[in-house]
Parts: sequence; C-alpha cells; structure tokens
Amino acid sequence: MTISKGMKRAILIHPDPKLKAVATPVADLSDGLRILADDMLETMYAAPGIGLAAPQVGVLERLIVLDCAREDGATPQPVAMFNPRVAAASDERNVYEEGCLSIPQIYADVERPAEVTVDWLDRDGNPQCQGFSGLWATCVQHEIDHLDGKLFIDGLKPLKRHMITRKMKKLKREMAREKA
Ligand code: NI
Repeated sequence: MTISKGMKRAILIHPDPKLKAVATPVADLSDGLRILADDMLETMYAAPGIGLAAPQVGVLERLIVLDCAREDGATPQPVAMFNPRVAAASDERNVYEEGCLSIPQIYADVERPAEVTVDWLDRDGNPQCQGFSGLWATCVQHEIDHLDGKLFIDGLKPLKRHMITRKMKKLKREMAREKA
C-alpha cells in the first residue's frame, strides 16, 4: 500500500462518549473514507503510534489503521482495514504492555490471544484475510476493540481505572487551558 500524504486530525482523549460508542459498519467505501484512512495514518505516525481507530478521531465508523513495523525501524507497512473482524483466535495467550493514543502516558499489561486471523475490506473494497502474531496481533485486537467502545484499561481493577480516568480529566483540563 502506498501512503498518500494525509492531514493530521485531533485525537480524542479518554473519557469521551465517542470512545465508548459502538462504531457503524462501513457500507460504502467512499473517497471520504479513503481520505480519512490517509489522515488517520498521518495522525498515527505523527503521534507517534502503531495503531489508530476512527472513533479516536471522532468518526464512529469501523475503520482502523496500523503499522507495527516501525517499532524495529523497518520499512513502513501501513495497513488500513475497513470492517475488520477477528475471525479466529488462538488458545495460546500473550501478555503485552499496551498503551493508547487516547490515554497518553499510561501503560498496562494486557492478556490477549497470541495469534488471530482477521478479515477486512481493503481501501479498494476487496476482502482480505490474514493471520497476525506478536505485536501485530495485540495491536489489531486493541484497535478492533476501539470499534466496540472498549479501551485497554477496561480490564484493569476499578481503583486503577478510576485513577487513570482522573489523571486524563486533569490532562484534558490542562490541554484546554493551553488552547485558550
Ligand atoms: Ni488505543
């Protein structure tokens, strides 16, 4: 996939009702959605991050972008997935320390299936199906969770979760003040 230069969009910070909503399946792969995918990749690379879901930029449609290759300083491997779905997951599980661009500076261990098979539509509307392991498997599951209004902190103990939410509210107040 070639990267056309997108425009950076603002990333919503937790807590936000749009981050808790279930996103709608993409019915028609319009140019507007392809532009959104380019913008999301641009936003993700600039952050920098390895994955981003449309609800994080305020669009409640089932679209995610990811590129886990950059972790190794390798050639970029941008992927945009419309209507991604975990079709199969391994019994074997894996723990990764996860973070999220909507919950900056917070990291926590999350356990997920070590390998998943995902199907999706690519930017031309062609169905794709691929197996993922390692960081890619974790990342794609994290991003698909966003489409169902789930955040990686949802599985943490309530006290820890509340502490993080308080911290993010404070961060948002500070960001709003800086903008004013
Ligand atoms: Ni995230």
